[in-house]
Parts: sequence; C-alpha cells; structure tokens
Amino acid sequence: MATVVGGLTTSHIPAIGGAIAKDLFQDPYWKPFFDGYPPARDWLARVKPDVAVVIYNDHGLNFFLDKQPTFAMGAAAEYRNEDEGWGIPTIPAFRGDPKFSWHLINSMVADEFDLVTCQEMAVDHGFTVPMQLFWPDYTYTQVATVPLCVNTVQHPLPSPRRCYRMGQALGRAIRSYPEDLKVVILGTGGLSHQLDGQRAGFINKAFDTLCMDKIADDPEYFLDMSIPDLVREAGAQGAEFILWLAMRGALGDRVTERHRNYHIPISNTAAGLICLESVA
Ligand code: DHB
Ligand code: FE
Repeated sequence: MATVVGGLTTSHIPAIGGAIAKDLFQDPYWKPFFDGYPPARDWLARVKPDVAVVIYNDHGLNFFLDKQPTFAMGAAAEYRNEDEGWGIPTIPAFRGDPKFSWHLINSMVADEFDLVTCQEMAVDHGFTVPMQLFWPDYTYTQVATVPLCVNTVQHPLPSPRRCYRMGQALGRAIRSYPEDLKVVILGTGGLSHQLDGQRAGFINKAFDTLCMDKIADDPEYFLDMSIPDLVREAGAQGAEFILWLAMRGALGDRVTERHRNYHIPISNTAAGLICLESVA
C-alpha cells in the first residue's frame, strides 16, 4: 500500500525562482535563506519518495479571478510552468501520475471533498519554486507530482479547519492506494506577508514562531481561527498558512520534526521551512 513518508513546508516567493536562475546561492542577501535547504534535501535522499503531492495556491496562472475553485487537483501526465510576469524563466516539465491522481480524486470525492479535476494544468511559482528548492538542478523529475490547488487569493477562502480536514481525506486516499508508493506532501506559501494595501510589508514574527512551534504536535491549535483571524495575524497573503495545515492533516497523528529554518524577509515575506517525518 502507499504510505505518507512525511511533509515539507516552504515559502514560495517568486523572487526565489529568479535567484535560482541567476545562481545567487552565495549572495549575502540570499545565502541565509538557501542554506536552510540542504538538510531537507538530505532527508529526502534518506526517505526516497516516489511521489510529491504539492498543496499550493495558484496566483492567476491556471485559474484567474473569473473562475476560482476552492480545491482542484491535477490528473495530467505532465505539468508545465509559463511566464507569470515575475521574470522567472520557464523550466523543464514536471512529471505527473494520472493513475494515482485519479485514485486520489475518486477517493476524496467519495470522502465528501468535491475537487475540480484538471486534465491539463499550468503550475505557477507556488508549485515550481518549492519543487526547485527541494530537488535542485532540475532533478525534480525523479519524483512524480500531483498538484493540489487551494484558493487563497479570492474570498471566501476555505477555513483552517476545512483545509486540515481536506488534508486528512488526502491522507486516507493515499493510504488506500494499492501500490507501494512512498509519498511526500508539500504545503507551500506563508509565512506572514502582505503584498498590498495599508499593511503592505507586514510581517509578524511572533505568530510565525507559533505556527512553526505548533504545526508538528498541536496543529489543532489553529482550527478555530477564522480567515479574518488569520489575515489579521499573518497578513492578507499570510493566509497561505492554510496550505501548511492541509499538509499537516495528511500526515496522521504523530510526526517528528527533522529540520526547520526561518529567515526574514525574503522579498516581502517571512520565509519558513519545516521538515516533518511521519511516525508509523
Ligand atoms: C511574494 C510572496 C508570495 O507568496 C507570492 O505569491 C508572491 C510574492 C513576495 O514576497 O514577493
Ligand atoms: Fe504566494
């Protein structure tokens, strides 16, 4: 049967994609950020996942404001990025696994999560930047991918509790797949940031620390928060933290934190990274 080996969360700021393309790993601005990632890659080399389910939000590449599904899953053989206007170059395609995607979709819809299904799907920086951080130099084709998109851009957004429960349904769907696949779950975005309005540039280190301290052993701490609560604490775009909660829901009751890194700011965002290993 398929198993969930663990989860990774990371911010997905577009400027990171630009810095990777320009090889800025040793640049003083970027070094403390990029230096956070080798321990997560070492962990991936140890647990050797076959598939990455990437829980992220699309920022207007695949879905625009005219059509904004709350939850959508890819079921394509490959996923490409496109020019989003941030100056991130297009990169080689990501590998899909349609058979596994359809199993997840069938299982989650039967489990009352009515996903939009996408047999073609362009993936934006919310997906491509984390995949490049964890599998550098285009080695991401080592793993098959399943994009799982959650609306964090146009209100109403799904609540923290709804996202956590969606993650739990994803975990059940993965564990009911008959093949021996090892699956890692990525939850991208966050931590605190706000890109527009009067609070543009807002960062809340105290709340970010709480998120990082509680995501492993007490994720339910956040489940009574509303989206306005989350926007107040984390900023309008910091509401992307619901993607971390969805990831955590898929991992099951017990996890061990293997690694973390926190660095402020990268662009306008508090960059947070956590690596959680599932405890069987
Ligand atoms: C930034 C952060 C994001 O999460 C995003 O989607 C776009 C931009 C930023 O800090 O620049
Ligand atoms: Fe974002």
